[in-house]
Amino acid sequence: MAIRILREEGDEILKKSSRVIEVIDDRIKALAEDMFDTMHKYDGLGLAAVQVGILKRLIVIDLYDDKTKFALVNPEIVWHGDEMEDFEEGCLSFPNQFGKVRRYSKVKVKAQDLNGDSVTLEAEGLLAQALQHEIDHLNGEVFKDKIIPGTFEVVTPEDLNKK
Ligand code: NI
Repeated sequence: MAIRILREEGDEILKKSSRVIEVIDDRIKALAEDMFDTMHKYDGLGLAAVQVGILKRLIVIDLYDDKTKFALVNPEIVWHGDEMEDFEEGCLSFPNQFGKVRRYSKVKVKAQDLNGDSVTLEAEGLLAQALQHEIDHLNGEVFKDKIIPGTFEVVTPEDLNKK
């Protein structure tokens, strides 16, 4: 268990594409554990390996609802509905920055779990949003480049205290 250093805005690694994981060994499992620890420390809902400097196709998600918490290896969107929604979004690599991003309301994702078993997930709402955000990271895409013009905001913890 360890907290890893988060790569933040301006770090060129965030624009790189991550590589497929061929073998899920102990190093990948340890990386997933560290990613959960790092995400929990900063109260994130999701994290991609590239955000801790590792260009491998691994993401973790925790919606803090006592059931939606998992790591996905090599996740891919294999289907999406026609409907789209504007989701309010932030990212641990862009502290205090928020904005709306248009994403599919429903997606189907195929991946492997940490045992190497194939999994298929159908997701909507917040989980669909989180999956699309994290899979974007694996392709070197960041939410800030997709923010709907006029919806970008900077909100610091101090601002929240004033409310
Ligand atoms: Ni992010």
